Amino acid sequence: MFKKIVILTGAGISAESGIPVFRSETGLWEQERVEDVATYEGFARNARKVHDFYNKMRKSIRTKEPNPAHLALTRLQSEYAQKFAADVTIVTQNIDDLHEKAGSKDVIHMHGELNSILCEHCLGRYEYHDDSSSDTECSLCGHKALRPDIVWFGEMPYQMELIEKKLFDCDLFISIGTSGVVYPAAGFCSVAKSTGAYCVEFNLEKSAVASNFTRGIYGKASVTVPAFVDELIKTGTFSEE
Ligand code: APR
Repeated sequence: MFKKIVILTGAGISAESGIPVFRSETGLWEQERVEDVATYEGFARNARKVHDFYNKMRKSIRTKEPNPAHLALTRLQSEYAQKFAADVTIVTQNIDDLHEKAGSKDVIHMHGELNSILCEHCLGRYEYHDDSSSDTECSLCGHKALRPDIVWFGEMPYQMELIEKKLFDCDLFISIGTSGVVYPAAGFCSVAKSTGAYCVEFNLEKSAVASNFTRGIYGKASVTVPAFVDELIKTGTFSEE
């Protein structure tokens, strides 16, 4: 049985809840240029465009609901963890709140969160659900220096020290719905594997780092993840095929 499990999720887990992925024919990065809305340089050039982009996304996730894959991970964190005295950590690259809506606890949002805001003056971060602009005052220090609390390209993801510790320590690493092209998350499997963890990838198709995994399970996450979690909760392990 597995005692220390780390799960990494990406945009694919939220796709069936109606939140678009980044890289596909209809993905977000086909509609917007990464340089414009996901870099600090883009923000410095046109703060209004960037605020508006994330304001729109923040609004759009309000009505989105978790799907069976998010709910299964919550059962892993509660039922499995209790039954087998295990530690189950969810790390997500997603900036939506569907893990929280599903009831998961202590989710590590390594790329930030739409429902949070960051002040460039006092460096405070706090829960935030409204629209933001260059004129919005920070409710901590009063300065008009807010930016979306999103980790942009070229910036350091949140909580890397804790994530690395969990990865080195885990015996099962599960990756769900991520294309495996954005580092450091794309390298998590290699870190977990280096200390002997069993590594499973869930995706519609092989990701860019599929060959690093012990096993790949391909199909819709809303189907494959609950089936896998059911077996884990029942038996403490899973069959090889
Ligand atoms: N079930 C399982 N996997 C799916 C599903 C589904 N229903 N739908 C899509 N996928 C898979 C796709 O095959 C793809 O490999 O999800 C992956 C989504 O990939 P990306 O759009 O690249 O998203 P992600 O890997 O999370 O992106 C990483 O890139 O732009 C940045 O910061 C952004 O956090 C994001 C990071």
